[in-house]
Amino acid sequence: MKTLLLYSTRDGQTRKIAQAIQLDMVPQQVDLYDLTALPNIDWSLYDKVIIGASIRYGRFAPQLAEFVDAHLDELGQRYSAFYSVNLTARKPDKASPDTNVYTHKFLSTSSWVPDEVAVFAGALRYPRYRWLDRFMIGLIMKMTGGETDKTKEVEYTEWEKVREFALKIAEKKSKLVAN
Ligand SMILES: Cc1cc2nc3c(=O)[nH]c(=O)nc-3n(C[C@H](O)[C@H](O)[C@H](O)COP(=O)(O)O)c2cc1C
Repeated sequence: MKTLLLYSTRDGQTRKIAQAIQLDMVPQQVDLYDLTALPNIDWSLYDKVIIGASIRYGRFAPQLAEFVDAHLDELGQRYSAFYSVNLTARKPDKASPDTNVYTHKFLSTSSWVPDEVAVFAGALRYPRYRWLDRFMIGLIMKMTGGETDKTKEVEYTEWEKVREFALKIAEKKSKLVAN
């Protein structure tokens, strides 16, 4: 059976991480979709589900909670995993499911209990942002001791951590019970 890998992204980093996860698993056995532009899902094809989502101004895209709430049964029946992407996670003491405030809050208010959870640091790409976003992120970086040079693009994602997450999921056995 296959793995359904869904991502919600604004600037592409969560998709880039999803593509890396796909490559670390058996790529032909992973179907990748944007959570905000989903086709009809044939759940009978999948025994694993991974959902990744990024943070913007303290929030995940609303489609994350909408999808999870609408598919609690399907998620619960399968091996499921969640990863979140944000810049707070560039700090090691804020990069675990318990210490990353966005991840902790989402999971503590959701009825979904993923089998595996990871938090990945995202990317900071000043030149690509609109001026207001560039200004706001610059302010946040100044307050939190991060990069403030507006000409810079910095990728904080630890690809080895992404790989470990992917390989862990790849080796899990199916939870689905044959009828
Ligand atoms: C406008 C904007 C707002 C952001 N707000 C937050 C935030 O509140 N907390 C945080 O940790 N990271 C924040 N980030 C960082 C993003 O989560 C990070 O850039 C991530 O890589 C974005 O992933 P994506 O490209 O998949 O959307 C923000 C980034 C932008 C551009």
